Amino acid sequence: MLVGHQPKEFLLAVEALTVSFDGFKAVNDLSFYVDENEIRVIIGPNGAGKTTVLDLICGKTKATSGSIQFRSQELTRMKENQIVQAGVGRKFQTPSIYDDLTVFENLEISYPRGRTVFGALTFQRDATVRDRVEEVAEMIFLKDRLGMSAELLSHGQKQWLEIGMLLIQDPDLLMLDEPVAGMSVSERIKTAELLNRIIKDRSVLVIEHDMKFVEDIAHKVTVLHQGKILSEGSMEMVKNDPKVIEVYLGH
Ligand SMILES: Nc1ncnc2c1ncn2[C@@H]1O[C@H](COP(=O)(O)OP(=O)(O)O)[C@@H](O)[C@H]1O
Ligand SMILES: [Mg+2]
Repeated sequence: MLVGHQPKEFLLAVEALTVSFDGFKAVNDLSFYVDENEIRVIIGPNGAGKTTVLDLICGKTKATSGSIQFRSQELTRMKENQIVQAGVGRKFQTPSIYDDLTVFENLEISYPRGRTVFGALTFQRDATVRDRVEEVAEMIFLKDRLGMSAELLSHGQKQWLEIGMLLIQDPDLLMLDEPVAGMSVSERIKTAELLNRIIKDRSVLVIEHDMKFVEDIAHKVTVLHQGKILSEGSMEMVKNDPKVIEVYLGH
């Protein structure tokens, strides 16, 4: 069989995406493409439409028009829970961990159900889950905090726990809205290390304001302004773009 020239396969292809709120286009004919194993950062002034883009991808907000292709699936036609099943995990700005549960329990309840073979013995499942919880806990720097009540964690540790609760579901795309807001410098450095570790198996789409952090993690930066792309490319390119300096970085 003749194999023709294949177009490049992106993990995520957002094309001509638009959403109107009472006639106001918060996202306006937006197209961007995320590769496998990429860390993409979206930056831009307040109200640019950054959070709305994540809301559209995870199905919380329905698009007015346009498409969101994730692998071969059209996310704009799917419900929120189907999008999660398809492999998209999304962390919101406010943590949604269970304060009265331990770190272990928070991770355990996030483990996807029905993953093990039907009829598997309970103790086998328990061992599988325990191994996975420990593996994720190590990744999020909380291996020695497994028995601790989540409410006793620092702000940064709570953010990591929530990332862990998404990682345990093994998403192919992880979306984070301002993950290092309120973190200490050392926590920010460890978060950068964490993201660099987890992209071996997935891509990450991050909204962030902290330019030092963006510089540390971004493979590519997409600058949004009034629901459209103002600039896109390497951090080096974007931060020297006069348009970006004018509407965002110069302030
Ligand atoms: N559900 C909504 N209804 C009406 N307007 C909205 C809604 N969500 C967001 N917006 C508006 O869309 C614009 C973009 O918001 P947002 O995506 O939160 O920006 P950013 O995250 O870049 O600060 C803002 O003007 C905001 O007020
Ligand atoms: Mg926002």
